[in-house]
Amino acid sequence: MSEPRTQFATRLGVIATTVGSAVGLGNIWRFPYEAGAHGGGAFLLLDLLFIFIIGVPVVCAEFIIGRHTGKNIRGAFRALAPGKSWGLVSYVGLTAAIMILSFYSVVAGWTMHYTVSSVTEFSGRMSTAALHDRFDSFASSDMAVVWTLVFLTANYLIISRGVQKGIEKMSNILMPILFITLLVFTINSLMMPGAIDGVTFLFKPKFSEITPAVVLSAMGQAFFSLSLGLGCLITYSSYFKKETPLVRTSFITAGLDTMVAILAGVIIFPAVFTFGQEPTAGPKLVFEVLPSIFSSISGGVIWSTLFFFLLFLASITSTISMAEITTAYFSEEFGLSRKRATALTIALAMVFGSLCAMSFGSLGHITIFGMTLFNLFDYVSSNILLPLGGLIISVFVGWVLDRSIVNSELTHSDRPASRVITRMVVFCLRWLAPVCIGIVFIFGLGIF
Ligand code: PHE
Repeated sequence: MSEPRTQFATRLGVIATTVGSAVGLGNIWRFPYEAGAHGGGAFLLLDLLFIFIIGVPVVCAEFIIGRHTGKNIRGAFRALAPGKSWGLVSYVGLTAAIMILSFYSVVAGWTMHYTVSSVTEFSGRMSTAALHDRFDSFASSDMAVVWTLVFLTANYLIISRGVQKGIEKMSNILMPILFITLLVFTINSLMMPGAIDGVTFLFKPKFSEITPAVVLSAMGQAFFSLSLGLGCLITYSSYFKKETPLVRTSFITAGLDTMVAILAGVIIFPAVFTFGQEPTAGPKLVFEVLPSIFSSISGGVIWSTLFFFLLFLASITSTISMAEITTAYFSEEFGLSRKRATALTIALAMVFGSLCAMSFGSLGHITIFGMTLFNLFDYVSSNILLPLGGLIISVFVGWVLDRSIVNSELTHSDRPASRVITRMVVFCLRWLAPVCIGIVFIFGLGIF
């Protein structure tokens, strides 16, 4: 039998866990390389638009569903729309959760390796070419698979301890330390010779770079970064108390999440231009650029160790939220114990994660639609499944769900002024989000 449902203990715990889910590799690893590959400022602008115009209302929609029902993603739709096919969106979410957990764990495994090798291998100054080799030879080796598995095992240990003891406690401590370290690195980067070029690249939109595919990627990035569209926030908000203000929590999450992505950009791009690297390097960008920063400052070994360790911690507060989606589902829908449900989730991610890790080495020759397995998992989940899930969730809450539930969940603990905001949220869910996501899909996927 599944254990009784718990709730997050404190207000701070709610913010720390939700922000902990949102802030992760998506901000510090994925945002810089996506922005680097898609024209810098133009990508940032689109990302911001998607986060605040579509993202925040859909975050509210997930919160409404989760908190109102207090159930896992499948159970929540069954409770709200019994016998209807709306619940099928759960399978979109569950699939996305396993796919993201799989490829994300590969990169999180890299952060673990880089933490350790900062101490053992990192010898002060290293040339850009040496840093390339260092990444390539590691990522293509069997050790990358081993670190993926080690990372997933760490997840198992935390999640199986339960919501409050494991997830909430970790997030409360780790998130503040991460913010402070990012600020220190930002100041450091702004003093580099390439600072102006880097900042210009990040903030000056070149509208000529905007193509339908770039718009689709920016939408995918916004959803990915907010942990949105796959039921992660439905699951987390099912542990919220009635007093948690949903609108405010969604704005705080989106605000802090955006801030971290921008800080990451301000750290990375000045270094890219200072050390003559390519902003379009793809997934390895951060793993080659950050070490060049560390090799240029005194105490580089310590900074490098600290930073990759924090990146690892930021990853784990995100992966436990992905894994919680399927863990809650397996345990509440099939009556598995929390430990077994977690084990099943992690086992699935171990299989697919190992394959994704190998796609940088021995499976590199296997491509589907021109993408390696790792890239395919990332593209399909972020650019297709998450916006699709978000589209269905927004239509469901905007058009189908009883308006009194929406109103009472949204206004319950927010100040009365939030009635205006409530109306705006509902408008976005009914019209703006479905229409925008639909249009971006049609053009971005080249349907016409
Ligand atoms: N938002 C997380 C990040 O930016 C990734 C994530 C995606 C977490 C989906 C949960 C669900 O790193």
